[in-house]
Amino acid sequence: MPASADIPRHIAIIMDGNGRWAAERGLPRREGHRAGAESVREISDACIELGVEYLTLYAFSSENWNRPAHEVRALMELLDRFLVEKAKDLRKKNIRLLAIGQIERLPEKTRKLLTSIIAETANHSALTLVLALSYGAREEITAAARSLAADAAAGKIQAADIDAQLFASRLDTAGMPDPDLLVRTSGEMRISNFLLWQISYAEIVIVKKFWPDFRRNDLLQAVREYEQRHRRFGAL
Ligand code: FPP
Repeated sequence: MPASADIPRHIAIIMDGNGRWAAERGLPRREGHRAGAESVREISDACIELGVEYLTLYAFSSENWNRPAHEVRALMELLDRFLVEKAKDLRKKNIRLLAIGQIERLPEKTRKLLTSIIAETANHSALTLVLALSYGAREEITAAARSLAADAAAGKIQAADIDAQLFASRLDTAGMPDPDLLVRTSGEMRISNFLLWQISYAEIVIVKKFWPDFRRNDLLQAVREYEQRHRRFGAL
């Protein structure tokens, strides 16, 4: 795909369908997650190739804690392995890693790996890969409201000072551009508590394929669809 001014700066993805991908093959669900991690590698490379600045992936939602303990464990182990293996790649490819969500709820090993890689890659500039982990938009928004209320109660701000810009500065995504394109795989037409504030003006592309089958060409196609849409931000 030729470079274009219309390439989204920020792509956010709801990676859905790992379980169904595995079930179709008679495999355990963790095999679907493992194959999904391969898609993560390929899609982050494709984003660099396209010149996308931010890629945010919904890797583990607040609700995912309610899955069977063995599946949660398998996902955390996969994440640990991904972080260890990906660390070299992040260095080589100049990728900055960030995380959003209730990171404090993650197992200590995962949290430590994550924070050390985030610190190590802080100055990288080819792509910012944002992992949403133990993330829920309602939790994020209520935490922002709580922090503003505490500041108001302490007399640091007035209620009238609270506008969209100040509010956004208290979200986990403070300082990041809003997603221009939101992709969800596996054909489901839901947002599932993902970036509710930030996707106000995002173009939404729903792809039928399950996440482990979503690869470079599928991303290029989603970006093509994004480019073909006329974006008006509510104006005529
Ligand atoms: C949704 O599929 C996917 C997840 C809950 C987790 C996403 C995790 C990965 C892609 C692998 C690891 C990620 C990283 C960053 C290493 P599902 O299990 O809800 O599928 P289903 O709807 O078919 O059951």
